Amino acid sequence: CGIVGYIGTENVKDILLKGLEKLEYRGYDSAGLAIVDESDDVQVVKEKGRIATLRAEAEEVKPVGTSGIGHTRWATHGAPSARNAHPHQSTNRRFTLVHNGVIENFESLKADYLSDVELESDTDTEVVIQMIERFVDEGEEVDIAFRRVLSLLKGSYAIALLDGEADDRIYVGKNKSPLLVGMAEDANVIASDSMAMLHITKTFVELMDEEVVTVTRNGIWIQDLEGHVIERETFTAELDESDMEKGTYAHYMLKEIDEQPFVIRNIIQKYQDDDNEIKLSDDIRAALNGADRLYIIAAGTSYHAGLVGKEMMEKAAGKPTEVHIASEFLYNQPLLSRNPLFIFISQSGETADCRGVLVNVKEAGHPSLTITNVPGSTLSREADYTLHTYAGPEIAVASTKAYTAQMAVLAVLAMDSARAAFGDTEFDAIYELSIAANAMEVLCDAKDDMEQIARDYLFETRNAFFIGRSFDYHVVQEGALKLKEISYIQAEGFAGGELKHGTIALIEDGTPVIAVVTQENVELNTRGNLQEVVARGAHPCVVSMEGCHREDDQVVIPSVHPYLTPLVSVVPLQLISYYAALHHGCDVDKPRNLAKSVTVE
Ligand code: G6P
Repeated sequence: CGIVGYIGTENVKDILLKGLEKLEYRGYDSAGLAIVDESDDVQVVKEKGRIATLRAEAEEVKPVGTSGIGHTRWATHGAPSARNAHPHQSTNRRFTLVHNGVIENFESLKADYLSDVELESDTDTEVVIQMIERFVDEGEEVDIAFRRVLSLLKGSYAIALLDGEADDRIYVGKNKSPLLVGMAEDANVIASDSMAMLHITKTFVELMDEEVVTVTRNGIWIQDLEGHVIERETFTAELDESDMEKGTYAHYMLKEIDEQPFVIRNIIQKYQDDDNEIKLSDDIRAALNGADRLYIIAAGTSYHAGLVGKEMMEKAAGKPTEVHIASEFLYNQPLLSRNPLFIFISQSGETADCRGVLVNVKEAGHPSLTITNVPGSTLSREADYTLHTYAGPEIAVASTKAYTAQMAVLAVLAMDSARAAFGDTEFDAIYELSIAANAMEVLCDAKDDMEQIARDYLFETRNAFFIGRSFDYHVVQEGALKLKEISYIQAEGFAGGELKHGTIALIEDGTPVIAVVTQENVELNTRGNLQEVVARGAHPCVVSMEGCHREDDQVVIPSVHPYLTPLVSVVPLQLISYYAALHHGCDVDKPRNLAKSVTVE
């Protein structure tokens, strides 16, 4: 879900559509735009489905104007449909608005202020626009009515508002959901992330929670909800439009899988100083070393990277580490140690579940570090410290290179902590990562073999199981998530020893069971677990590592340090998921129901 806006001198339709296309990667199920035309009428076009559908519709309607707003929606309240798509308009059509986020108190607001108004949609958003119209009808100035309504909202929002009677401005407001304002010559823009508007400008201004902005062709005015004016420096987005191109690849996901060895080498460079020592700020070192326990907080694939991070921290550095699903931690906090350090892992840096925890952690006065692929994102800005994963923009919804990059940064942290704790360590993360990068490259080059494995195991099945122990357990959870995310094949990743405690009931003749076997100390145990399911008809596939391999294993990865095996063994799992999804005709880069950046709880 995302927002774009433009006010300038050019015809806005194509600018908005291009911006929305750049936001497609975030996931959405409907889209729309609103343009103020020459006679100050606001024209709205909105459609269920893809931006291509919206583009076709906009070609028919041909709205012309130099200011407008656009939106992609990922349904929370109200089914995906043209009716529930944004922009929404007030009853007399003077005001038009797009919104990301969730208005938690929309029902009570409706009861308190709009009991006599017939709403036109099932969304939580519409109350906002109807309340603005009501307050303006009662005599308030538009900017004051806007701030008053925002101060009554509970929940999260990024909002852009058009007033049909004032085509020289767009009003913007933000709380908890990301939103940037960008500045160009004779034009200013609005965007949920800078990627959406790089075709217009690279100069942006960050907005903080509970701020509003009046955006005109020549300037921007930031205020708080009481109306006090706020000054803010601009920043330059360090991105090139070309970073976001697919090039010759059929899908972003395949490109991003292939980029992984380069990303790891990039991380090595960024985290190494001229003396080949690990480069970390003194503050981050002090925070890590001063903590008696680390609490890793994350969601989805980033959570899976956190599980591997815990192993590395505890095994290499002897640092007690817990990993928590952000949405669980938020409402069911475990007992904390005396001096905790919170580490947030998030590709986007925007996941609302993580942000909820960060807000609480800050309130309680605990230090926080964000590991993210998007510096400048909400989690990065709000945590005390940030470490960048340097993976470059990840466009495919299903995360690949961000996952391996997160684990690489965690490996660097584990090595640094080990040095601090023991004076030296046998785990030379920098060297071992370079070996891992080479191994990843070998697997990226074996695409034909991976396609064949997908064909043998996953083309005909409706379900699949993955098993592994210790580090391999964490990677099979990620392998299963990849497969279900993009191919919709039901898949589960199990601890090798646990499958027999219940789930084995699901094994039938031909059920694919994919085992990852890279850890010497549990190799025989996992192979034994595989035999248990083979005896019940399972179709076994083994991804092993040199040294623990057998002749008829389907994939044998080159030997790497045992802590770094997930970076390598995940590559075949990503690739077989990719080929399975292709075969099933799925939209690989934009799987159904998923969003890349989930800014709602
Ligand atoms: C969404 C995406 C997942 C992702 C998760 C966490 O649900 O669909 O692929 O792993 O969010 O995202 P983050 O940006 O915090 O890593």
